[in-house]
Order: sequence, then structure tokens, then C-alpha cells
Amino acid sequence: MSDSTAPRTGPEITTTRRALVTGASSGIGAATVRRLRADGWQVVAAARRADRLEALAAETGCEVYAVDLTDDAAVAALAEHLAATGGLDAVVNNAGGALGLDRVEDADIDGWRQMYEINVLGTLRVTKAVLPLLREAGAAKGVADVVNMTSTAAQGAYEGGAGYTGAKHAEHMLSQTLRWEIAGEPVRVIEVAPGAVATEEFSLVRFGGDAEKAAAVYEGYTPLVADDVADIVAWAVSRPDHVNIDLVTVRPRAQAHNSKIVRGTGI
Ligand SMILES: NC(=O)c1ccc[n+]([C@@H]2O[C@H](COP(=O)([O-])OP(=O)(O)OC[C@H]3O[C@@H](n4cnc5c(N)ncnc54)[C@H](OP(=O)(O)O)[C@@H]3O)[C@@H](O)[C@H]2O)c1
Repeated sequence: MSDSTAPRTGPEITTTRRALVTGASSGIGAATVRRLRADGWQVVAAARRADRLEALAAETGCEVYAVDLTDDAAVAALAEHLAATGGLDAVVNNAGGALGLDRVEDADIDGWRQMYEINVLGTLRVTKAVLPLLREAGAAKGVADVVNMTSTAAQGAYEGGAGYTGAKHAEHMLSQTLRWEIAGEPVRVIEVAPGAVATEEFSLVRFGGDAEKAAAVYEGYTPLVADDVADIVAWAVSRPDHVNIDLVTVRPRAQAHNSKIVRGTGI
């Protein structure tokens, strides 16, 4: 396996817009890299697992940057790398996830801390670091984009979900506040809030590797897939310069609410 800390610039690509996608080593992030590349974007794929990023680079021609987004210095180095290699037109703050499904009285403090660290502070850290680059690109080309991947968990409670819903609510508030603060500048703030998406790792990570519990989350109905969400990201960042898609909430048709999924009816 290669050195997971070394940045690597991918093959020469001749498009004019460049996006950073975090959490690109699996699920929604990887699908977003594939989709943006197909749409002609230059894409920097970031996550911790360099081997998975390199496989994605071989498949799509994206650039690769292995980074732990909970590390201040590593994120600062990522921003310096981006500045030195062509700047940035969009960031998709997608890295994140849930840990556990414990009631509040049984909550694992460390798990809550980790969820806050990656979903909220990871998004904050990356956004702060790349905002100057986005401003520069937006001023030169018309518009640049911050896309934050929150969740329907940012819109309400469910039992056992408070650690994750709390973090995603905070990420939602970060998104809304930033939009207000930089209104009038050439940088849009877009939030995408999916319901249940069957990705290979989200529920496995949530349930500590318990494949049976993870599979049960998606049984008896047709969940969203990562491409459904990537499609929305690609659409939102390709709107005309004067349009800001504030928030897209997307769920499987069988899911009316975080805790209401209709199973066994064929949808
Ligand atoms: N799946 C769903 O049902 C669903 C629904 C709504 C919202 N979401 C949100 O959508 C996003 C993507 O979810 P997903 O389903 O695609 O999950 P996933 O497959 O588990 O992907 C999570 C990604 O985050 C990266 N990541 C985690 N910690 C990191 C860290 N410290 N530094 C850098 N990267 C890190 C992981 O890469 P490494 O492990 O290689 O670092 C991985 O690429 C998350 O924010 C999630 O909360 C998911």
C-alpha cells in the first residue's frame, strides 16, 4: 500500500472547474467523484484510505489526496496543495457518518465526540481552509460552491439517533449561517439532505461492522443509492450563476420520515 499521507496529483485533465470531494473513498463521495468526472470536472478525491482513492483515480482520472479531516495541520496542507495546483471551484463536504444507535441514557461519549469531530468540525475545518480559494475562483469565473452533505437526520429526531442528529443539525446550522454571512459574494452554499441511502459502509460503520444489522436497515423497500445523491450534487453545482439551491431533501419513496419506512409493499 502507498504512503497514505502523501498528496498525489493525477493525470493532466483539461477542464476548467475543479472540485474537492471529501469522503471519496466510498459511498456517496465516490459516486460524486464519478459523476463530476463524467460531467467534465477536474476532481480531487479526499479521504483517509489512499488505496481506495487510488483505485478510484485509476477508474475516473481524478486526483487523489489522502487526509484525515480531523487533523488541523493536514487540512491546512490540503488547502496549500490545492492553492499550488490550480485552486478550487467547489468543495463537497461529504465525509461523515453515524456511530451507534444508543439511547441518550446509554450514549457513548466518545462516539458522540467522533461524530461531532468529522461531521461538524471536519466540514468547518475544510470550509474555512478552502473558502479563500473559492472566493478567488468565484470572482474570476462567476461562481463557486460549498456543498454540505447533511441528512434528514438534520431535520428531526429519532430514537437512538441523538448523537448523529445532533451533529447533522449542527452541520445544517453551519450551512445556513455561512450562506447568510457570505450572501452577495460569488460563493454559493448548498445543502443536500438525504434519507436512507444504501451505501456499502454507512450502516456497517454505524453498527461496528455487524453486517446483519447493517443489511436490515435496507430490507423490504427500495432505498436510495449513492448515484441518486451524486446526481443532485452535480445538478446543484451546474445551475446558472444567479441560482442558489439552498437545500435539497431527498428520501426513498418508502420513507416518509426518519422513523417511518413502509416495508413490504414493493416500493
Ligand atoms: N448512507 C446514508 O443513509 C446517508 C444518509 C444521509 C446522509 N448521509 C451522509 O452522507 C455522507 C456520506 O455517507 P456514505 O453513506 O457515503 O458513508 P460511507 O460510505 O461510510 O462514507 C464515509 C466517507 O467519509 C470518510 N471519512 C470518515 N472519517 C473521515 C476522516 N476522519 N477523514 C477523512 N475522511 C473520513 C470515509 O473515508 P475513510 O474511511 O477512507 O477516511 C468515507 O469515504 C456522510 O456525511 C453521511 O453522514 C448518509
